[in-house]
Amino acid sequence: MKADGYTLDVPVSVDDLRAAVLGGNAAFYGQPANVAAFVDADIIVRNTTHLAEVEAVWGPAPGRVQSDGRRVFVLGKQFGNIFVGLQPTFGYEGDPMRLLFERGFAPTHAFAQFYLWLRNTFEADALLHFGMHGALEFMPGKQAGLGGNDWPDRLIGEVPNIYLYAANNPSEATLAKRRSNAVTITHLTPPLAAAGLYKGLVDLKDSLTRWRSLAPAAPERADLEALIAEQAAVVDMSGHAPAALWLKLLEAEAALIPDGLHVLGRPMSAAARADYLNLLPPMDAAERARIDAQLQQDTEIPGILRALSARFIAPVPGGDLIRSPQILPTGRNIHAFDPFRMPTEFALRDGAAQADRLLAAHPTLPRSIALVLWGSDNIKSDGGPVGQALALMGARPRFDSYGRLCGADLVPLAQLGRPRIDVLMTLSGIFRDLLPLQTKMLAEAAYKAAMADEPLSQNFIRAHALAYAEQMGVDMETASLRVFSNAEGAYGSNVNQLVDSSAFGQEDELADAYEARKSFAYGRDGKAVKNAAMLQKALKNVELAYQNLESVELGVTSVDHYFDTLGGIARAVKRQRGSDTPVYISDQTRGTGKIRTLRDQIALESRSRTLNPKFYEGLLKHGAEGVRQIEAHVTNTMGWSATAEAVDPWVYQRLSETFVLDEAMRKRMAALNPVASARMANRLIEASERSYWTPDAATLAALQGAADELEDRLEGIAAE
Ligand code: BEZ
Ligand code: MG
Repeated sequence: MKADGYTLDVPVSVDDLRAAVLGGNAAFYGQPANVAAFVDADIIVRNTTHLAEVEAVWGPAPGRVQSDGRRVFVLGKQFGNIFVGLQPTFGYEGDPMRLLFERGFAPTHAFAQFYLWLRNTFEADALLHFGMHGALEFMPGKQAGLGGNDWPDRLIGEVPNIYLYAANNPSEATLAKRRSNAVTITHLTPPLAAAGLYKGLVDLKDSLTRWRSLAPAAPERADLEALIAEQAAVVDMSGHAPAALWLKLLEAEAALIPDGLHVLGRPMSAAARADYLNLLPPMDAAERARIDAQLQQDTEIPGILRALSARFIAPVPGGDLIRSPQILPTGRNIHAFDPFRMPTEFALRDGAAQADRLLAAHPTLPRSIALVLWGSDNIKSDGGPVGQALALMGARPRFDSYGRLCGADLVPLAQLGRPRIDVLMTLSGIFRDLLPLQTKMLAEAAYKAAMADEPLSQNFIRAHALAYAEQMGVDMETASLRVFSNAEGAYGSNVNQLVDSSAFGQEDELADAYEARKSFAYGRDGKAVKNAAMLQKALKNVELAYQNLESVELGVTSVDHYFDTLGGIARAVKRQRGSDTPVYISDQTRGTGKIRTLRDQIALESRSRTLNPKFYEGLLKHGAEGVRQIEAHVTNTMGWSATAEAVDPWVYQRLSETFVLDEAMRKRMAALNPVASARMANRLIEASERSYWTPDAATLAALQGAADELEDRLEGIAAE
């Protein structure tokens, strides 16, 4: 930027930058970052056009969030003409009462003033949002075509919005474009590598390799099997015969994991690049050479600079490099898809095959399935998961004479060859926003199935709808509602926030939040109508719940959104039925899909990622952010206990041993990120208090001692 003529005092190192932004006077004001400016209450009152709406939710200016009662704080630090700011949080993260409301209300005073200050006081010519999952584009308002009455528009106004975005997240990027006028600049995600084996897993593999080479009647067989059982116990894999153990071990060894983090503008090492190229789909030598060359260039920082100079940014589809090499070069502006053509014929076939795998994996033919649908998995697969829903119900999309999606038709029972399965479809707010035609199509498929004159033994949708209509005194249109999501303009179930801030008591409160947020039924007209009773009725019949996993980078323990959606519905089903519901992950990350129980998925990710030195050392190279990501894995793991009870106790034991009870590791992580280290220790204790695992007295005492030490360290830092 300096070379481009910006006035800029560049900190000497990343650590200096972090210290200036996150340190400074932060402790003095009790804030998470340096306080760069204040906006007094009387200024807020004078200058805020929509003040009444903010005050209705957050009280008289300046409110309590990021404020000292007289003024709100603007967090960040100025370096020459560049202001590096911290976007305030939504404000309701730690507040269980607010998290239970079904609507996103209004930004906090601090949030609104942050943007107004940037525009009117600092007078920014452009904003660069750095990273993804921001809050601005999720503020209340219309889904698309925003105007002056929608919060994102009120906040960002006409300031150019440049948004650095992960190349593999076209769904949220599209939302950022639609709802905050963003020009996205893609960046690569971390290189991928095979997880490999470590510690006791290597010993176990040695023994299993030997066992496989033995003749059936070999005399040493019994001894070797005893050793294998011992070695399996050491790595928490008891209870499997050697042949099954072998397959499980190979799966863990071959699992793909992200190798650390991507650093903007820094091409990956030659070794990482070679590994990565080996994972790409078959292609000719010229194509491979092109990708190899592109991976060695930095196109991302130049992309940001181009955008800041208001120059054209070329478009690019979003996707993962291992399936879509056309995402290179990065540094371009993400576009999504043609909404009229989804699901494609390929996606329908792929969806039908994956639906068959799901049915084969479950011991009985389910009458009702809960399927969580996200935007990202559908956009990247041209509608694969939507194809699964249609296949389960026995329906197909209908296209008009221009080839545009216009509804759904039933596949005749004779052709389907099995009963129509009832599918309760819960959409992320992002899916609902991005795929309105598909939302209507799915509602129409459920309605047509409910109305079909077919034997009830062959049509579970109709059987259930007739029963609901009679029991609830509603018409068939209402009794066939199966597509549920948030209220318009609202996103997520808030289950993740409740877990993250430890703001729930009994787990049923998570079901309450889920139902309150996700009880908006989307019918054939695409309009949302709140109908909690119908959601509850449908939840009561659900025999299994599942969701697709589409990105290697983000496993179910990497981000909190999976337990927010799939975990949320699992808890809601459990509450309605009073019993555990089988939960599956439909793994579509590589080639042919696979179905895994959620418990197996979490065990696999714990083994191949969180507890794997190759994985965590890759993260720890990145200092504070690496520690934060490890802590997030621990919190997300607890999220799965709280919602789906799908975590084996050994996972907590090993997390404790690896990251907290090992003194050298604890000190190393605390030096890099004291806040995240303390959170992690406290989270493991919280998990034991909630009985998600039962450590022995010595382990618990050691955890408590470590947590106290980490807390003391934090207090020491604050006092300095
Ligand atoms: C989605 O693509 O629908 C989605 C992405 C991130 C979090 C939750 C949902
Ligand atoms: Mg978030």
